[in-house]
Amino acid sequence: MTDTRKDGWNKRTKLVHGGTRRSQYNEVSEAIFLTQGFVYETAAQAEARFIALGEDEFIYARYGNPTVAMFEERIAMLEGAEDAFATASGMAAVNGALTSLLKAGDHVVSARALFGSCLYILENILGRFGVEVTFVDGTDLAQWRAAVRPDTKAVFFESMSNPTLEVIDIAGVAEIAHAVGAKVVVDNVFSTPVFSNAIAQGADVVVYSATKHIDGQGRALGGVVLGSKDYIRGTLEPYMKHTGGSLSPFHAWLFVKGLETIDLRVNAQADSALKIAEALEGHPALLRTIYPGLKSHAQNDLVQRQLGGKGGTVLSIDLKGGKEAAFAFLDALTIPVISNNLGDAKSIATHPATTTHQRLSVEQRATLGITDGLVRFSVGLEDTDDLIADLKQALAQIG
Ligand SMILES: Cc1ncc(COP(=O)(O)O)c(C=O)c1O
Repeated sequence: MTDTRKDGWNKRTKLVHGGTRRSQYNEVSEAIFLTQGFVYETAAQAEARFIALGEDEFIYARYGNPTVAMFEERIAMLEGAEDAFATASGMAAVNGALTSLLKAGDHVVSARALFGSCLYILENILGRFGVEVTFVDGTDLAQWRAAVRPDTKAVFFESMSNPTLEVIDIAGVAEIAHAVGAKVVVDNVFSTPVFSNAIAQGADVVVYSATKHIDGQGRALGGVVLGSKDYIRGTLEPYMKHTGGSLSPFHAWLFVKGLETIDLRVNAQADSALKIAEALEGHPALLRTIYPGLKSHAQNDLVQRQLGGKGGTVLSIDLKGGKEAAFAFLDALTIPVISNNLGDAKSIATHPATTTHQRLSVEQRATLGITDGLVRFSVGLEDTDDLIADLKQALAQIG
């Protein structure tokens, strides 16, 4: 029995009820169908299901599962996408979104400011299969315009980059890409599904690491790719179901429950992030405080247009004393944990140059502004004043 009423619901209602499928027991909380497969009543039914699956019919969890379908439908409703496919991690989503679209001889244009693993796919994997990639400064539309060609099949970028928080103009890049028939693939993790409306702004394919804000409590790896029904079921699903990057039903259940509270959590985290950024901006130990919600951010106008003025849940600070100061600061924090995830209820401090972006060359880090003094700070759900006090006492301890 399904219960997937869509029409007329606002965001919070979609997040709580979207995609719900109830079993014969009519449970209130969504059920976890922790099963690899499904029983057929007859051999003929098995044959028919392998020929074509009807609504709410499943054959094997690598192909689909009711709990995974609930997550896919709920996030698709939130995003305003026709369809979604859930994946085992955010990287399975990025890899699947790109490799299912591309073939040898194709050309891709990508922003250069990317998370280390995204960069690895663009720089090290696609080329091995004959795909040429041109990197641009994603904030400069003239560079996108100069880089696209008639054989450009896709453009790729993080709409808000990790960890320097450059914001890329989705509508502007989409216009340039669509003029040559290229698909726009956006990694939207830092913009969050709460603040961003990437599909309405021109993205063809939107990718999330569900490990971040969707789970929101640091429990599980996962990801999701959103787009048109044609792309998701015609292009992506055959690639994913045969290469094995599907999401576990248990993780899908965590994400279904995570979506119920994502709007409340992410809004509270972003409000807190703005207050923290304002409190730290101009601190004598810092060269820069980077937060897209600050008026001083280079793309704050775009943040107003593209994200309703919300700067997300992450800020980065650049300490004057380089690596030594950054490590002393991290070690002096008492509330945030030193780790490398983001979007968690717990505040997390990261030193990108030695962790998430360690594999970049010194030159690449310099080009992207990932200095040795840069610390990324993912704002959690703790009391804002407690966080500000803790960050300030840690800054005061730098020798
Ligand atoms: C922008 C971005 N994309 C993708 C990923 C990968 O997500 P996952 O760790 O779930 O594979 C991350 C992880 O930090 C990320 O920051």
